Amino acid sequence: YSLLPYNTFGMDVKAARFVEYESVDELRGFLIGRQEKDAPLLHVGRGSNLLFVSDYPGTVLHSGIKGIQVVQDTEEFVDLRVGAGEVWDNLVDYTVRKGWYGAENLSLIPGEVGASAVQNIGAYGVEAKDLIVAVETVAVETGALRVFTNEECHYAYRESIFKKELKGKYIVTYVTYRLQKKPVYHLDYGNIRSELQKEGGELSLAGLRQIIIHIREAKLPDPEKIGNAGSFFMNPIVPVQQFEELLKMYPEMPHYKVDEARVKIPAGWMIDRCGWKGKHLGRAGVHDKQALVLVNLGGATGAEVVRLAEAIVRSVKEKFGITICPEVNFIGEKQ
Ligand code: EPU
Repeated sequence: YSLLPYNTFGMDVKAARFVEYESVDELRGFLIGRQEKDAPLLHVGRGSNLLFVSDYPGTVLHSGIKGIQVVQDTEEFVDLRVGAGEVWDNLVDYTVRKGWYGAENLSLIPGEVGASAVQNIGAYGVEAKDLIVAVETVAVETGALRVFTNEECHYAYRESIFKKELKGKYIVTYVTYRLQKKPVYHLDYGNIRSELQKEGGELSLAGLRQIIIHIREAKLPDPEKIGNAGSFFMNPIVPVQQFEELLKMYPEMPHYKVDEARVKIPAGWMIDRCGWKGKHLGRAGVHDKQALVLVNLGGATGAEVVRLAEAIVRSVKEKFGITICPEVNFIGEKQ
């Protein structure tokens, strides 16, 4: 089974087995009845945050659970229960058309609803955790149903219980999001305000979605045209003291305060400063408009991308004394 349609990096790898299910019952049936030969299991969405470094020896699972359902509707907010297999941006588009606020800054993020709850996707000052009310799951071992509240998901920057303590143990089937009926604009990140000025300054929900789409399209490569998995590295969070030392050397260094003790530094800026933007090693490259994004220049192997990533980590460590960590999940064994 070719995994080409299930990874935006465009790696031409195969899985021994591939299972797509349309309902919770079908998924439970598979989990309960599975055999030795089906192991190991890997659940994917659109594969927009994965790097396959080899073929996958087990079963790749994909959710075909669809649907957007209003489960609560009040004067202030609406709760939407959404199938894990819905395309994320279709959901954002739907909420904006309805005039419901909250998801617009997350426009055009590739991937599906299930992954939004695992990965806590985020952009332009908003994260999925700000909208999530509950996450419905099935336990991989037993097929039992379990609902996690937002608190139980232990959300943090690109992090959740599903990536840590419970990694591989639960499969997300539905996510409930709360959208607001009154404006809750988040305009303070980066160049949103200046783009708004350029477009005439008139603020609307649909207009903000368009601005976010324009900003993303200008910086981030379209995976349909050039293989990539968005940000390849996470932005490192460092102690204030270390940040202040760096600021003496690089007064123009962009940064975001996390709390009193910690500061987040854009890895893309550091990689850019190391001179990597637009460079390549073999068929793996660094995007020329956003150095945080590694790209498949055509026919790159996972190993080539890993080699480039390792070279970048070394450069950043040498120049800034910070070890950056991949945001992308590596699947398979390095040859
Ligand atoms: N910068 C450079 N050179 C570069 C890239 C960035 O100087 O090549 C500078 C920018 O000028 C800016 C700062 O670094 O001052 C931050 O850049 P940007 O606003 O593009 O955001 P980012 O920190 O690189 C993060 C997320 C993105 C998200 C944007 C917007 C992570 C790992 N990445 O990137 O998420 O879209 O903020 O919120 O947190 C993703 O996760 O796949 C992703 C694309």
